Amino acid sequence: MAEAIVLREYGGPEVLRSESIEVGKPGPGELRIRQTAVGINFHDVYVRSGLYRTLSLPGIPGIEAAGVVEEVGPGVSGFAAGDRIAYVTARYGTYTSERLLPADIAIRLPAAIDDKLAATVLLKGLTAEMLVRQVYRIERGHLVLVHAAAGGVGRLLCQWASHLGATVIGTVGSTEKAEIARAAGCKHVVLYREENFVERVREITDGRGVDIVYDSVGRDTFEGSLDSLATFGHLANFGQSSGSVTAFEVARLSKGSNALSRPVVFHYVADRAKLEGMSTALFDVLSRGALTAQPGKAFPLAEAAAAHEELESRRAAGPLLLVP
Ligand SMILES: NC(=O)c1ccc[n+]([C@@H]2O[C@H](COP(=O)([O-])OP(=O)(O)OC[C@H]3O[C@@H](n4cnc5c(N)ncnc54)[C@H](OP(=O)(O)O)[C@@H]3O)[C@@H](O)[C@H]2O)c1
Repeated sequence: MAEAIVLREYGGPEVLRSESIEVGKPGPGELRIRQTAVGINFHDVYVRSGLYRTLSLPGIPGIEAAGVVEEVGPGVSGFAAGDRIAYVTARYGTYTSERLLPADIAIRLPAAIDDKLAATVLLKGLTAEMLVRQVYRIERGHLVLVHAAAGGVGRLLCQWASHLGATVIGTVGSTEKAEIARAAGCKHVVLYREENFVERVREITDGRGVDIVYDSVGRDTFEGSLDSLATFGHLANFGQSSGSVTAFEVARLSKGSNALSRPVVFHYVADRAKLEGMSTALFDVLSRGALTAQPGKAFPLAEAAAAHEELESRRAAGPLLLVP
């Protein structure tokens, strides 16, 4: 029997309760995985609260984890018992100690990347790769604005963009997070709950605005993000931590021939070859130290509710993990 967090109703963190489940043997194309670390993402909060109705209930939430292959199903090549792997999935089911997994989404982990680090950074790091190398290709000299710069994705984005030669302006919710953002490569940090970030961006860029805004905050920042763009600037809205963005006038983009995108990492990793290319790029910057990341603060799997409370409270100054 495995231990799993089974969501039976939408609601607050308290609906995340532990149960025993049967896992069974791997079918064709599947692996049986003993999970060693489970990443926590803001997406999990939307699923738990019912904002996203993408997991049918009862269901096991969670979209990334790392672990060890216990058994290989018929027809699977390239994996053997004992292999260390990590994965991201739009099909959920990661908040568990063991599971069956389609082999075609498993990524073998290099020796330099331990399981807890992989479960902490894989989804966030692939998202950062998508944003700085594909959605908008960051080059030396670009001016970049990253909201929630001390957050899980935010911190990786700041490091990667500054490694590629951009000047990064980060917004954060507290002075403690400002230090984290600076350490992640932000040249300028704006406390956006106290200061008007649009005015600060205009001051910092001598009125020009930025080439790209990476906005995961959504409702509270969307308008200001549009107003922070330079001519030809691009707003990549990739999350909604403060709530969904309401309708806006497309004509607003004509002010500076601006572009708006709403990228989703699962579309980018759906192709196996692309997934491998993106994870190789991520493991490369991590192994070379161009990106530094620590394993997230660990909570026992059974304490998933406490971990969600911490993420939603905005107290979390870094990523969080569940350890089965
Ligand atoms: N599109 C994609 O493919 C994709 C992939 C991965 C993640 N995402 C999205 O990226 C965002 C960041 O994910 P993450 O896991 O790295 O989380 P995170 O950034 O570590 O946590 C969210 C942060 O958002 C900020 N925030 C601003 N207003 C908030 C509010 N009203 N309530 C809570 N937080 C608020 C807080 O930072 P401050 O205190 O500094 O404001 C908070 O720490 C999420 O929206 C997630 O859904 C999207």
